[in-house]
Amino acid sequence: MTIWANVIGTGGYLPATIRTNQDLSEMVDTTDSWIYERTGIKSRRIADEHETASSMAEVAARQAIEMAGIDAEQIDLIIVATGTPDRVYPSTACLVQERLGIKHCVGFDIQAACSGSVFGLSIADQYIKTGFAKTVLVIGSEVCSRIVDWSDRSTCILFGDGAGAVLLSASDQPGILATHIHSDGGYEDLLYCPNPQAAAAHKQDEASVINMRGNEVFKVAVNTLGRIVDETLEANGLQHSDIDWLVPHQANTRIIAATAKKLGMSMEQVILTLETQGNTSSASVLLAFNQGVRDGRIKRGQTVLMEAFGAGFTWGSALLKF
Ligand code: ACO
Repeated sequence: MTIWANVIGTGGYLPATIRTNQDLSEMVDTTDSWIYERTGIKSRRIADEHETASSMAEVAARQAIEMAGIDAEQIDLIIVATGTPDRVYPSTACLVQERLGIKHCVGFDIQAACSGSVFGLSIADQYIKTGFAKTVLVIGSEVCSRIVDWSDRSTCILFGDGAGAVLLSASDQPGILATHIHSDGGYEDLLYCPNPQAAAAHKQDEASVINMRGNEVFKVAVNTLGRIVDETLEANGLQHSDIDWLVPHQANTRIIAATAKKLGMSMEQVILTLETQGNTSSASVLLAFNQGVRDGRIKRGQTVLMEAFGAGFTWGSALLKF
């Protein structure tokens, strides 16, 4: 009998503070119209000084657990994708385990930048399919605002904070149909964030902030996401028309529109959160999925294609029956 990883709950958390394009235009040389036209972003959420990846993850996780109607103790694996962990160690997943009061499970973090949630879903799917785990919590949680250079207009306009969560459970009914994940470490210079602890091995004077050659990243992202869409459909014998919803990583509306066009989908079939959330890195796909599920657009039985692209470069897709 085939074992599937079924979605039984979703959750999301966004900090209360809203930073608008207008706010940014008072900090750097930019305008609301430049940001909106080039990216599709109007505002983003910013964590307060007490909020961390684990505190935001906890709220998103509790929502997913509540939707699923299970006891948190049933969770046997927690995977947290983050590039902004509370600490180098313990992992954010261990901190979330403690916050949720779960004694008997295992947790670990993964780092795949903006592709983190999709990589997390892929790992969860393998563990469920092999029978190692029955109930898996996958979380993407990011405090991007702490690794953004707020004086760099080419990057500070893009990012926001938040957490998304999905709870998966072993089932004999179709859930995650397939995941496809990739990485290519040859693009470090185009998008990276230095680790302050490792400064001696790199340039001593480099601050620990996001460095991005946006225009070059943009071109690779559009091409790569086009390829991953083809790869996913082909490998699973699907047509464009079989996909009900595209839930993309929220980096730029122009990148998302190019992927939707490739799929022959209208923007009405795309879950967009970018306008009010910006790019929340590994949290973005699960935040968008949670929004689509909770506002009733994504319905049981529908087919959802998630895709993401991020530093590494990393990229991937998750195809699922909700
Ligand atoms: N306001 C006004 N002007 C600006 C701003 C700004 N905020 N930022 C840059 N400019 C200027 C530049 O200086 C440049 O001026 P110049 O022509 O005089 O040199 C001009 O605008 C054009 O700059 P580009 O970088 O070519 O602008 P582009 O159209 O490429 O848009 C953007 C920039 C929005 C960053 C886009 O390239 C992008 O979205 N890139 C992809 C980001 C992405 O997908 N990242 C991957 C995920 S992130 C992760 O993994 C952590």
